[in-house]
Amino acid sequence: MNDRLQTRIGGLTLKNPLIAGSADHLMESEGIMASVNAGAGAVVVKSFSGQAGKKQTRAIADYLALDTQWNPVPWGYGAPEDVTIAARPSETGQSFSQWLEQCAQMTRYAGHQDCLLVASLAQDDPAKNRKLAQQLAAAGIPALELSIKTGGDNDPSSLDRVVAVKTVRNLVADLRETITIPLWVKLSAPQLLSPALAEAAFAAGADAVTVTESHTGFIPDLETFAPRLGGSIGVGGFWTLPLACQALVQCRATVGPEKSLIGAGGARNGGDVARMLLAGASAVGLASSIILRGYQVIPAALQQLEAYLSARDLKVADLIGRAADNAKAPPKPHSDGDHWRQFMPSV
Ligand SMILES: Cc1cc2nc3c(=O)[nH]c(=O)nc-3n(C[C@H](O)[C@H](O)[C@H](O)COP(=O)(O)O)c2cc1C
Repeated sequence: MNDRLQTRIGGLTLKNPLIAGSADHLMESEGIMASVNAGAGAVVVKSFSGQAGKKQTRAIADYLALDTQWNPVPWGYGAPEDVTIAARPSETGQSFSQWLEQCAQMTRYAGHQDCLLVASLAQDDPAKNRKLAQQLAAAGIPALELSIKTGGDNDPSSLDRVVAVKTVRNLVADLRETITIPLWVKLSAPQLLSPALAEAAFAAGADAVTVTESHTGFIPDLETFAPRLGGSIGVGGFWTLPLACQALVQCRATVGPEKSLIGAGGARNGGDVARMLLAGASAVGLASSIILRGYQVIPAALQQLEAYLSARDLKVADLIGRAADNAKAPPKPHSDGDHWRQFMPSV
């Protein structure tokens, strides 16, 4: 194990901070094994949402890579780094028992390569969560991420802070009473709500909090006058990285530096992983970048991170939260006085 890249999430040590984040390519064992083989420190499998068996959701799943003029570009390794990914995600078509069996097999597979397999549940029925989590723990799954939609930007009613905090607290406390395996909580809350929800999750017993989920967006097409992919969709890309970093910084300020945060949103390479670590993440999830460019993104990002750290004789732990903490110092102005005048046209 490379000491420089090691990181800790709650009580667990990961061999490196690159997490293959939950998305459609991690629905079946091939994608999970490819991520493990590529060297990920952890793999969070595609969430089980209780919609299993409803195969129509798979039929309507669709994905687009869009350039900066919002026009589709070819999918794949050569796609420009500044594309936006638009997605109508799928649901796993597996029953819970099939999904559980796959998680158990993949736990063993990942364990041989010192990679942590993390199961993921994305549903808000406490009784069902308890039942499923008990089965996951009994099957030897080493960790669980609960992906909570409360506070999601597609659900205005959930913007009520008190309701959202209560929902997160109850869902997490319920699971914490049920299982002893490490419990990560993924928030899809807008930035302003994330710190309060992260605080509630940790108070209720979470071992780590992940920010952020996909953003919800709407992309009108100039030719058809219809939205791309038919309506409101998940959107992501390099431009979401500052938003994820902002959520990390705010969460760190609220929950304190000793709590483990996981960053997700827009990371494409080793430099982006380092940026999220500097903003306060102890590990960083990559999803869209891998869906778009393939599993080779993982070793490439790890090599870049390793090179960045060794050039400075630093370890991952040395980076965590440094930029967040440095933000406390007043920023140096770009120029003296009324520098905004440079933006005015000269007449
Ligand atoms: C197609 C697609 C499917 C996703 N499915 C899940 C999911 O099942 N559970 C989950 O917690 N996050 C899911 N996500 C969110 C990602 O894990 C990640 O949080 C988000 O996309 C931001 O990271 P990225 O910019 O690296 O993609 C999905 C994202 C995409 C693009």
